[in-house]
Amino acid sequence: MSNSITIKKEEVNYNKIINVSGDKSISIRWVLFASLANGVSKAKNLLLSEDVLAAINAVKKLGTKVKIRKDYCTIIGNGPDGYKFKKNITINSKNSGTLGRLIMGLLVNAPHKIRIIGDKSLSKRDFYRIAEPLKKFGADIRLTNRGLPLTIKGSENPLPIKYLENKGSAQVKSSIILAGLKTRGKTFIKCKPSRDHTEKLCKYLKLPLKVKKKKNYDLIEVKKAIKIKPLNYNIPSDISSGAFFIVLTALLNNSKLIIRNINVNPSRIGIITILKKMGVNIQFKNKKNYKGELIADVLTVSTKKLKAINCPSKLNSGAIDEFLIIFLVAAKAHGISYFKDIGELNQKESPRLKWGAKILNKMGIKTITTDNSIKIFGNPNLEINKKIIIKDYLKDHRVFMTSVIAGLAFGGTWNIHNKDSIKTSFPKFLDIIEDLRN
Ligand code: S3P
Repeated sequence: MSNSITIKKEEVNYNKIINVSGDKSISIRWVLFASLANGVSKAKNLLLSEDVLAAINAVKKLGTKVKIRKDYCTIIGNGPDGYKFKKNITINSKNSGTLGRLIMGLLVNAPHKIRIIGDKSLSKRDFYRIAEPLKKFGADIRLTNRGLPLTIKGSENPLPIKYLENKGSAQVKSSIILAGLKTRGKTFIKCKPSRDHTEKLCKYLKLPLKVKKKKNYDLIEVKKAIKIKPLNYNIPSDISSGAFFIVLTALLNNSKLIIRNINVNPSRIGIITILKKMGVNIQFKNKKNYKGELIADVLTVSTKKLKAINCPSKLNSGAIDEFLIIFLVAAKAHGISYFKDIGELNQKESPRLKWGAKILNKMGIKTITTDNSIKIFGNPNLEINKKIIIKDYLKDHRVFMTSVIAGLAFGGTWNIHNKDSIKTSFPKFLDIIEDLRN
């Protein structure tokens, strides 16, 4: 079977209600927290994508029992210090930076050396940012050229640290919090704001973590967790998956879409703020609080006139996974859009800032790119009439999905390789596309 897909523009418009898959960040965190809990935790709507399955395999290697049933998943945790594992184990983090980086925090007191490996894309990514703080706790970490494969051996008696996290990386912050939960004494983190699911889970579980929000940064204090209660969780849907359909709807004519039960945690909705500034009509309906997270149905209506944006940097962290798809809106907007301080995009599953520019240029959109910014010269009348091939993009799931949306919205004949890439975060993506086309 071919692993590429051909997308052609056809008159798509719809008025539909859809569900997207469970939130990837929360699914992976649920697996990790459940593996630390004392007793049985149960999750519904867990995202069963390759990244989350890699997390499940990782905690199994650490001696945790996991059962995947048709409608739910259970994990039997042995408590915060309950991991039992053999010498010389290897954890394969596959494509998942979140798993690879967060689990290292949990290994800060591992008695034996553990090897962490990943796929080609993850092996190119930076793990020095995690090794640096965890070494301060006392862990012995050996990297290969700042990345994977790596080995980590914990300290019998990890020491609390004070750390300044200034990338705005939720993965770095979360890894340190998890290490802090395993360490006697008070660990302090001063960090640029980023998605806060880890803090919210700690708060819900009444773990010893305090957060003070300052104007431009957060101050976090964390202490050792002695017991963790089981975590039953109904995982909300992922705004990063919904984002593709929010943008598709915004770019089409006469369409309206409701995506149900989306996690609209304020630290994740940068895309909504940005698109609203660009003139897209988006509303949250049926807002409710679920275990500290904010959930809503997201209504999007097609938009005739899109405006360019000079995107404020303070929105970057909340939209960090959505820039590729936001760039498509800029491609159709009136005027020149400017996104700055987004060099972190080149640290993702592929160098995404470069790929963003590459996709736009193939579409005939002019861009000016630096290592840290992009200017996009919008063309409200854009119609593509040529063949576009997207390949060799390190199987970055978001490059694939963005290209599919571009083909449906702007036309041309798109031959997009490696459709299996969606398995990492959103296996149902193409099924939903089919549903919207019919
Ligand atoms: C994530 C944090 C972000 C994001 C990633 C998921 C998380 O990475 O890009 O997809 O679940 O904590 P950084 O922490 O590197 O910004």
